[in-house]
Amino acid sequence: MSTPIQKLFDLSGQNALVTGGSRGLGLQIAEALGEAGAKVFLTARKAGDLEEAMAHLQAKGIDARWVAADMSQPSEVERVASEALQRLGDIDILVNNAGATWGAPAEDYPLEAWDKVMNLNIRSIFLMSQQIGKRSMIPRKHGRIINVASIAGLSGSGDVEFIAYGTSKGAVVNFTRTLAGEWGEHGITVNALAPGFFPSKMTKGTLERIGVDTLSRAAPLRRIGDDDDLKGAALLFASAAGKHITGQILAVDGGVSAVHHGA
Ligand SMILES: NC(=O)c1ccc[n+]([C@@H]2O[C@H](COP(=O)([O-])OP(=O)(O)OC[C@H]3O[C@@H](n4cnc5c(N)ncnc54)[C@H](OP(=O)(O)O)[C@@H]3O)[C@@H](O)[C@H]2O)c1
Repeated sequence: MSTPIQKLFDLSGQNALVTGGSRGLGLQIAEALGEAGAKVFLTARKAGDLEEAMAHLQAKGIDARWVAADMSQPSEVERVASEALQRLGDIDILVNNAGATWGAPAEDYPLEAWDKVMNLNIRSIFLMSQQIGKRSMIPRKHGRIINVASIAGLSGSGDVEFIAYGTSKGAVVNFTRTLAGEWGEHGITVNALAPGFFPSKMTKGTLERIGVDTLSRAAPLRRIGDDDDLKGAALLFASAAGKHITGQILAVDGGVSAVHHGA
């Protein structure tokens, strides 16, 4: 017997934890999951931004809460998982989105910058998945994990000088496939979004330097991402509509990666 399409995409009664949910792509994803009916629990470092994000979501009728934490610290990852589980009960959907970058030529790249980027962009994803997987998803034989990679993890990126970022996002891509292989038997899907260029605090400098026209020309669709473009893909991975999809990397990039114009 088939299920009505509205029900397949309905997240009523589900709980979602979104790291880096205070702004940018994380907030866009939180909004999508919340509007589809999920309760959302946000985390990021700055309490003020989290408070603003919560008010933004609540104004749309979404049940939103937050805790401030630095995801690059393993003890903080565990604390966020404990708080989320205590305050929401269980976590059905984990969105590993928090990420950062650092620019320097590879030959002079500081070790501290390498560690900072790696500890947030890939180690925290491993640790948070382990926490939520072990404590909430595996015992219930159900879960959806969505990792935010990047098209910078699908190929090299010319002369952008972000060796740690490109390396970390490549790691997110194969972490996603590897965990999908291991946790499929527990009823957990693990997929990744690979966004192209979206305006955000992280990309503000690049956008100002290169300009929206040049960035748009690199894409077959001749545009960069906007405040809605990740929502559909995120909801597909998060909902029953995506229950037969795991280990996949979906580029949401206006077609940039399809024609290898580079990121
Ligand atoms: N924008 C793009 O074009 C693009 C393209 C491809 C992939 N992505 C990926 O999308 C994700 C979100 O990026 P964005 O563009 O939305 O950037 P953003 O606006 O800078 O947002 C980053 C989010 O992560 C949080 N965060 C940063 N460091 C953290 C830490 N140590 N611990 C906990 N939270 C931390 C930030 O809040 P606090 O600063 O308060 O901690 C914020 O909520 C990243 O993984 C990024 O690599 C972005």
